[in-house]
Amino acid sequence: MQNDPMLDWQSLIAKLKTATRIVALTGAGVSAESGIPTFRDAQTGLWAQYDPLELATPQAFARQPQLVWDWYEWRRGLLAHAQPNAGHFALAELAKRFPHFVVVTQNIDGLHAQAGSAEVIELHGNLRRAKCSREEIIVAREDARATPTSLLACPHCGAYLRPDVVWFGEALPRAALERAVRAAMQCHVFFSIGTSGLVEPAASLPRFAREAGAFLVELNPEPTPLSANADLVVRAKSGEALPRLLRQLDSPG
Ligand code: OAD
Repeated sequence: MQNDPMLDWQSLIAKLKTATRIVALTGAGVSAESGIPTFRDAQTGLWAQYDPLELATPQAFARQPQLVWDWYEWRRGLLAHAQPNAGHFALAELAKRFPHFVVVTQNIDGLHAQAGSAEVIELHGNLRRAKCSREEIIVAREDARATPTSLLACPHCGAYLRPDVVWFGEALPRAALERAVRAAMQCHVFFSIGTSGLVEPAASLPRFAREAGAFLVELNPEPTPLSANADLVVRAKSGEALPRLLRQLDSPG
């Protein structure tokens, strides 16, 4: 098949056979096959009239905490039925073949850990966790105080709880970002998988890796601003391509 993206994977397989340090940067595309809409997909149903870029901000939460909280509770509800897909499981399996394999994810769905990935850096937080909006400490829902509305309150200071996710205009968790940059600068092969590569600072990680000498692979059915700089572009879905990569890596010869 002329346009089989797998045909020119031999260069990647050769690299992986000698590599010891791998980074896989993932975005919403990796969870699309788990039924979770990508971030820039049209919002479905009740929330269609809200622009996510409007709701995912500290200002929106300060102005309308219940609306923002309910929107994230709706998204958290979507997660309740979501399961890791073949792409998540293949990444977890791939990691066992290398001494150093880090998943750096922009996703907040927790599906990489659920699929068994041992080392996951969550750059944008995790929707399954809530934290005090004043003290920033994680609060288990069962420990939270109820309020007259759907909002929950911190048992220590009484401030509303918010999702433990990074909002627009907020800094990423410093330790997570520093680990991700270090891993990108030291890796032999860097995968950018299922991300549009539009949001900084995550979008700079592939460039750091490339500049430090890594072999850069983009795995995405669509082109992105990164495509022109990748050593290898695979126009495929992660749930299909990653299991095939694993099989090719494991096949003798
Ligand atoms: P986007 O929705 O911007 O991009 C999703 C990417 O996944 C697109 O490039 C799709 O082509 C690709 N894609 C779709 N289905 C796929 C599949 N089955 N396999 C592989 N790729 C597929 O999501 P992100 O790039 O993750 O940040 O967005 C990055 C950040 O923007 C999010 O973390 C969020 C948002 O602002 C915050 O909320 C802070």
